[in-house]
Amino acid sequence: MQAEARFALGKAKAGKKPGQIFDLSQLSPAPAPRLHTGLPEFDAVLGGGLVPASVVLLGGDPGIGKSTLALQAAVNLAGGGQRVLYVSGEESAQQIKLRADRLNTKTALPVLAETDLETLLATLASLKPAFVVVDSIQTISAEEVGGVVGGVSQVAFAASALIRAAKTQGPAVLIIGHVTKEGMLAGPKTLEHMVDTVLYLEGERLGNLRLLRCAKNRFGGIGEIGVFEMASSGLVEVKNISAAFLQHRGQGLCGSCVAAVQEGNKVLLLEVQALVSQSSFGYPKRTASGFDLNRLQLICAVLQKVLKLNLASQDVYINVAGGFSADERAVDLPVALAILSSFTEKAVPEDAVAFGELGLLGEIRSVSQADKRLKEAAKLGFKTALAGGPPASLAAGAPPIKVKNISRLQELIKELR
Ligand code: TYD
Ligand code: MG
Repeated sequence: MQAEARFALGKAKAGKKPGQIFDLSQLSPAPAPRLHTGLPEFDAVLGGGLVPASVVLLGGDPGIGKSTLALQAAVNLAGGGQRVLYVSGEESAQQIKLRADRLNTKTALPVLAETDLETLLATLASLKPAFVVVDSIQTISAEEVGGVVGGVSQVAFAASALIRAAKTQGPAVLIIGHVTKEGMLAGPKTLEHMVDTVLYLEGERLGNLRLLRCAKNRFGGIGEIGVFEMASSGLVEVKNISAAFLQHRGQGLCGSCVAAVQEGNKVLLLEVQALVSQSSFGYPKRTASGFDLNRLQLICAVLQKVLKLNLASQDVYINVAGGFSADERAVDLPVALAILSSFTEKAVPEDAVAFGELGLLGEIRSVSQADKRLKEAAKLGFKTALAGGPPASLAAGAPPIKVKNISRLQELIKELR
């Protein structure tokens, strides 16, 4: 019978054996232990370390520090006695050595400078490592696959071969990809669907801070973030995160507002900047970096309607300082304040932080975890918090910070100086 006709009738091919069925209740509950990278923040973002027989995609802009992070994890695991392989299609072994020298490591690390997929798979099968880095997936290609190296078909083929190798041979595989969040740059977004875990390293290339986020995780939550600083000897975990984010903040400038943003189980204090300037074209521009553009358009529309702010002839730019993104609803209020501040040329008090969600009618609502946000702000010396919504009921031993509850957009103007 023709395959199509068979499938239409729901019939299997003659002689095809049924698949193996497992009874979940009979399976042993203890999976292989996770591998610890020696970088606690990295492990936390992964949900407690690398899972054997799984594939992690580490994406990010070129030069952001992906190879550095992967090399640090590889060196630490090798130093802990694990069998590790670092495959690089981008750099020669000599170049990787230079990076390792910057990390001040003397650990023996097996390195394979190779771009051919078959050679890579053969090496994996013979070495049987517990952890493999493939840097980067865009450089790996197979002869039998058509298309340009780094193109969709080559990348997807190499990734699926590596995933199969991980599932059958058991190593944890870390694939590096030049994949931006938008998935546009050099890698297909489809990679994200194939792998178990997707991480993004972000930040401004010229600044030192790096944020490691998880966009997908089959073995843990995705809320956790890791904060690193690119130092002269590799990525170092940052202890006082908010202070680091705010270190370059100007004093008393119009168009700036500090937002208390919840990320995983951390609160980050990020500076939101707005620039409102006379539009030179008929159509006013709205540009957002690190913030959702649709949300910005909505906030502008509400400001225009409720406060009668004439934004129709103004361009509005929003930037979250440091190259980070803050898409939480709690950032609505700081964005609105920053816009209002730039428009009126009056500053938000320097010692104030803000958080709150804006509704379509100009109402400002409370957001979750007010206590945690206030605590972090107080810790950094902020004196006032402009918090959305009805009075937050604070736990006993509330932090020493004055909380002003803001319920309507109209109340914002009197907060500016
Ligand atoms: P790299 O890991 O090569 O980035 P990617 O793999 O994402 O392209 O790191 C790039 C930058 O990091 C490079 O400009 C040099 C800098 N760097 C340091 O500042 N300190 C270090 O210890 C290392 C290894 C790199
Ligand atoms: Mg690199």
